[in-house]
Amino acid sequence: MNEFNKRITLALTGASGAPYGLRLLQQLIAANVQVYLLLSDAAKIVLATEADVEIPKDLQQAQHFLEQRFSAKQNQLQLLERSDWFSAPASGSSSPKQMVICPCSMGTLSAIRHGSSNNLIERAADVMLKERGQLIIAWRESPLSTIHLENMLALSQMGVTMMPLAPGFYHKPQTLEQIIDFMVARILDHLNIEQTLVLPWMSDST
Ligand SMILES: Cc1cc2nc3c(=O)[nH]c(=O)nc-3n(C[C@H](O)[C@H](O)[C@H](O)COP(=O)(O)O)c2cc1C
Repeated sequence: MNEFNKRITLALTGASGAPYGLRLLQQLIAANVQVYLLLSDAAKIVLATEADVEIPKDLQQAQHFLEQRFSAKQNQLQLLERSDWFSAPASGSSSPKQMVICPCSMGTLSAIRHGSSNNLIERAADVMLKERGQLIIAWRESPLSTIHLENMLALSQMGVTMMPLAPGFYHKPQTLEQIIDFMVARILDHLNIEQTLVLPWMSDST
């Protein structure tokens, strides 16, 4: 029997917004979710730039570094290489039924729309589409070109949840963490994972 509540594939790509991805990963681990983690090369650059997180180049060292940082249980967090075609997310028969890409770049978004499957992030998303799983794309770019908009419309019509990393301010955030948590809470809500980061709008907080 699996000791974890559920399995989710989480990908971070090279869009701005690495702190969202890190916070989401932390929340998933805390919620006893087993996470298959995919990091694009550009994501590693953005993680270093925006969050001062230097992912070790060696896969085993990177795995150990992330397990320690997020206090993951044994086998809870699996960091996968970009061409690990034998991993669970690469195949329809073994893949988790839910996948989040946060943050998602316009490049990866385009590749998914066109079914490129040239790396494990694109392939895992392709598997979600063909298996009719839940795919959440938390994207970031501004302004948007016609290409971006067309790609987003096409993905939305395929059943993908297109979630702009555009936090609201009606909960009157006082800190950067609260702004980040606004978006992470929305993603957790869509994954059907209980969260206490942000209460629903107009809910009774007592
Ligand atoms: C600091 C930084 C911020 C970036 N921000 C964005 C962004 O917000 N949106 C985007 O689509 N690309 C952004 N890029 C460019 C992508 O990283 C680049 O297009 C890359 O090829 C995406 O590759 P990936 O989809 O494999 O991660 C950024 C790059 C850097 C270094």
